[in-house]
Amino acid sequence: MSKPVILVTRKLPSAVEARLSADYEALLNPQDALYERDELLKRAEGADAIMPCHTEHFDADIFERLPKSVKIIANFSVGYDHVDTDAAKKAGVVITNTPDVLSDATAEIVMLLIIGAARRAGEGEHLVRTATWKDWSPAFMVGTQVTEKTLGIVGLGRVGKVVAERARGFGMKILYHDAFRQEEEEKKGAVYFETMEDMLPHCQFLSLNAPNLPSTVGMLNAARISLLPEGAIVVNAARGTLVDDEALIAGLKAGKPAAAGLDVYNNEPGIDPRYKELPNTFLLPHIGSATAETRDAMGFRALDNLDAFFSGKEPGDRVA
Ligand code: DGY
Repeated sequence: MSKPVILVTRKLPSAVEARLSADYEALLNPQDALYERDELLKRAEGADAIMPCHTEHFDADIFERLPKSVKIIANFSVGYDHVDTDAAKKAGVVITNTPDVLSDATAEIVMLLIIGAARRAGEGEHLVRTATWKDWSPAFMVGTQVTEKTLGIVGLGRVGKVVAERARGFGMKILYHDAFRQEEEEKKGAVYFETMEDMLPHCQFLSLNAPNLPSTVGMLNAARISLLPEGAIVVNAARGTLVDDEALIAGLKAGKPAAAGLDVYNNEPGIDPRYKELPNTFLLPHIGSATAETRDAMGFRALDNLDAFFSGKEPGDRVA
């Protein structure tokens, strides 16, 4: 029997590509070129499955034009906001994601954003790299201490829980707002707030860890920013859509929040250029899951989903 044909849209780790090529007829992308819509559709002709990343958008139009041979889209990502799941269901295409395996790596980046923004890492590195570091004095590069501060987490899910664990290592007190109460976290001391509005005045640090949903788009807006205490620091390693850029940029210019650490943005990679001009931002290029271990694990998880599907079982991470 011939092997299922899998269209892979980006270059994947070599161990993942090796397993793919051993078990399937893999159409790889060694150049890591970003396929435009028409090119993607052309390459998908005759494929049984697609293994994309969040860099490709599967909207209603693409599902209408997708070759009928494609039965499953096994995402190499936990987020699947780049896929219109209603359109996928209508087209009879199964959608899977890769949860759990990237929580540790992403939580590391959240901690880096917290510390980087608080301790002015971007500014400091710039001084050293540009040979503009001239002196030391007690007033030089004074930032905000992280230890024993309060951290409000919006979205205490898989990543949020690891963030809480790591932050407790810094003696931080965890506050959270989520659609669901998390009893285990509350036993560890996390304090629940039914609304963001109730929680924000208590957040010396705020981490956004919610998914991109119609209800979360622009959740960090001017009204909510105004509720933060003086000196508060905001970080986001979830999705850029959670932030109202106008409001955050205006807030950063006015000193509330005092600083922001961002790994994700609206319109990546063409981010709002004003973020780059602000001295109180610490900016990374969407690298939450970018460790060798995690990228392997994401690929293997996506392959597990394909293996289940093509052996007639329900994929473990089916989301549509
Ligand atoms: C994810 O898996 O959702 C990361 O943001 C990378 O796509």
